[in-house]
Parts: sequence; C-alpha cells; structure tokens
Amino acid sequence: MINPQLNAQGELIHLLTTEGLSRKILTQILDRAADFVKDGELVNQKFTDLAGTSVFNLFFENSTRTRTTFEIAAKRLSADVSSLNIQASSTAKGETLLDTIHNLEAMGANLFVVRHSESGAAHLIARHVKPGVSVVNAGDGRHAHPTQAMLDMFTIRHYKQDFTKLRVAIVGDILHSRVARSQIHALSTLGCPEIRVIAPKTLLPTAVEQLGVHVYHDMAEGLKDVDVVAMLRLQNERMSGAYLPSTQEFFKYYGLTEEKLALAKPDAIVMHPGPMNRGVEIDSVVADGKQAVILPQVTFGIAVRMAVLSIVTANQRSAKQ
Ligand code: CP
Repeated sequence: MINPQLNAQGELIHLLTTEGLSRKILTQILDRAADFVKDGELVNQKFTDLAGTSVFNLFFENSTRTRTTFEIAAKRLSADVSSLNIQASSTAKGETLLDTIHNLEAMGANLFVVRHSESGAAHLIARHVKPGVSVVNAGDGRHAHPTQAMLDMFTIRHYKQDFTKLRVAIVGDILHSRVARSQIHALSTLGCPEIRVIAPKTLLPTAVEQLGVHVYHDMAEGLKDVDVVAMLRLQNERMSGAYLPSTQEFFKYYGLTEEKLALAKPDAIVMHPGPMNRGVEIDSVVADGKQAVILPQVTFGIAVRMAVLSIVTANQRSAKQ
C-alpha cells in the first residue's frame, strides 16, 4: 500500500503518523534531532535548513508545548514563520479547512503544521496540498501525535539507549489518547520487546492487544520492573459520557505516587506529555521528583521538531531538483 507520508523514493515528505513508518525513518529523525542536542541541552545556534521556507502553524485546538516548540524549531532553522490566530481567522466565518489551506498556499506556504480536533484532518490536508508542500501533524483528534511520540522516543533513547532491552508501561486514558497510539507504533517499530498498557477497562480501546501490547488493570502488576513509565492525561474534553466514578477514585487506582513508582526499576524514568493534571494522574512529588524527565521531554521536543522540519523540507527540495 502507498504510504501518503513518503515520496516515490520512500523519503519522508509529510509526518502524519508514526504508524507504518520504517525503523530507518524513525531512526533518521532521532539521529537528526541528536545533532541539535549537546549534553542534554539544545545547541544554542541558528541553522539555515529552512531558509526561504514559509511555515504556517495552524492550531485549531489549544496547545502550549507543541505550538511553541514548533515555532521555536522553525525559527531556529531560519524559516519564515506565521502562526494563524484561528479564532480571529476566516474559519470563524465559515471558510472550509481546505479553502483556508489553498489561500495560504497562494501566499507562498511551503509547510503546514496542523493541530485539529478531528481525527484525519492532517491526512486530508496532505492529500490536497500542492506538490512540494509538506504537512506535519501536531495532533489530530484521538488519532495521532507523531512528533510527541518521537520526542518521547528521543527521551527514552537519551536516558536508556537501547530500545531492544526495555519494558515500557503506558498508563491512564489510552482510549482517548493520540499520544499512546503514536507511542505504541513507534516503540514497536524501534524494537521495544515489552509494551504494557495500564488502565481501567473503560479507558482502553477494544482489541487493544492487537497493537501488540500487554494489558494490565492493576498498577501494582503493570509497573513491576518497568524501565519507563509513560503517564497520560485524562482527556476530559474527548469524554462524552461517564468513564470514571470520579477523578479521586482514578487517582487512587491509577495515579502515579511514590509508592507505586517504587514497583518499577529503581532507575525507571517517568514521562508525561503535558499538560499534567497534578493529583489526578500524577502526584506532585513524582512529577517534580528525581525520576521525572518531563521538562527534558519539552526541550527535546524542539530538537525533534527541528529534525522533522529539516528532513521533510530537504526531501521536498531534492525532489524538485
Ligand atoms: N503534549 C502536548 O501536545 O501538549 P500541548 O497540548 O500543550 O501542545
């Protein structure tokens, strides 16, 4: 089957999902991101990879980390960056998504970074942009959040080096989580031998085992001897009914506390994509504790987004020559 993210040479020109991407491409993103990081910090230098490239950030849904780090990443690569204020744009007057895209293309857009509440929005745009224009998915509905997953992979590789020796637990609202889906695809492609999901039955997709994960409903069992604990936010905005008796009850059974974390390996790292609900999915003592790598995740997010922007732009340019 043709992968809409790749050109005829099999190179990445859009990043829409981690699903179906090869280990070679995922590793290319991680290795390129590593060029922008030294001793765990972002290299303080401007690059010219995106000089002459016009990047439009289109965030139809709220964001702090993804929006800001994409903006920083594009500027670090010398792109011309425009961030549309969606509330004040003509979509608020009824203009369709594709009409907005075509108008921005008429202004010279080369690359769109898109967050949307509808699953499939980034794929739709990628199908309709002009040849040579790239689309990077910054999160679509419950479907995918590929750059979040790749910054999580970068973080794991930074602290743990070898994916093929790891036991990773993803904890919380798997059902509504685009992050979990993208993490699972990336982890399995990168060779992680044991991916666990820990959640109440009401917050798990049906047939989740088909993704190759081990399912746990009990934190004490699921966290035992894991190397990585990847917490998720309760996606209240995507819940239409009652999935939980209460947030207090959720915290009691699935919130990450020091006591529960003690069941993981002593050097286990704790990740969270943010925004965090302290006291709901994670206790502040853990969120701010020694094992948490939540803020490094944000820093690495800039490097990973720089890598993605740089790779898709280089592949589009080489196809033109
Ligand atoms: N992790 C994440 O996507 O955060 P934002 O919603 O702040 O972008």
